[in-house]
Amino acid sequence: MTAAMRGLFITFEGGEGSGKTTQIQQLKNWIESNINSVNLCLTREPGGTIEAELIRALLLNGAASKWQPATEAMMMSASRHEHVIHVIKPALARGDIVICDRFIDSTHVYQGYVGGVDYALLDGLDQLSCQGLVPDLTLFLDMDSNAGLARTIQRGSNESRFESKGAAFHQKVRQGFVERAEKYPDRIAKIDAARSADAVTMDVIAAVRALLVAKGMIAAS
Ligand code: TMP
Repeated sequence: MTAAMRGLFITFEGGEGSGKTTQIQQLKNWIESNINSVNLCLTREPGGTIEAELIRALLLNGAASKWQPATEAMMMSASRHEHVIHVIKPALARGDIVICDRFIDSTHVYQGYVGGVDYALLDGLDQLSCQGLVPDLTLFLDMDSNAGLARTIQRGSNESRFESKGAAFHQKVRQGFVERAEKYPDRIAKIDAARSADAVTMDVIAAVRALLVAKGMIAAS
């Protein structure tokens, strides 16, 4: 790959336990072995800067009901603005491929679709926090929410505030992501994440490869 004028912004989305961490690592390995001279920036939301990680700790710990959905939306957007300005935009300007674990779609699903915050207000928060930045590609890892929750409970995490919101909440999260993917079919690739990790990785790589070809960053094979 020749050095890109502007990098690429790839996000991963999905319910709890959908395998994002594993797939991000697999994609990182594939890019490092298949694309020459590209820098990778792996990051996550909420978080990604020292200050935004402090907001993450407030959001992900404690009682399920301690924040209103609108408060969560504003805190997510506040942490996102710091992240976009200090990490994501500078990395893209350098020509990096940025891979982010969750981004605006999570806010539209968790706080909008499930939490009931008005979508037009969330669009306004996106404008303020992202300043026009939209992912080039979003990989939505879709699977049964109960199976995903069972995985996270087995794994054990101290950031369990959203996990503790219950099965009905997480079924709605899944439905919200499905509908969001239907609304933005050109950007969001829905991948069946109930299969083996290797089968999921093949679909992740196929979607990323198509993007790299479309952007002229690798040749079509
Ligand atoms: P995760 O990093 O393990 O996926 O956990 C992050 C949690 O935060 C997850 O339950 C989803 C939630 N979240 C929102 O509710 N809104 C958002 O905008 C983001 C980025 C995350």
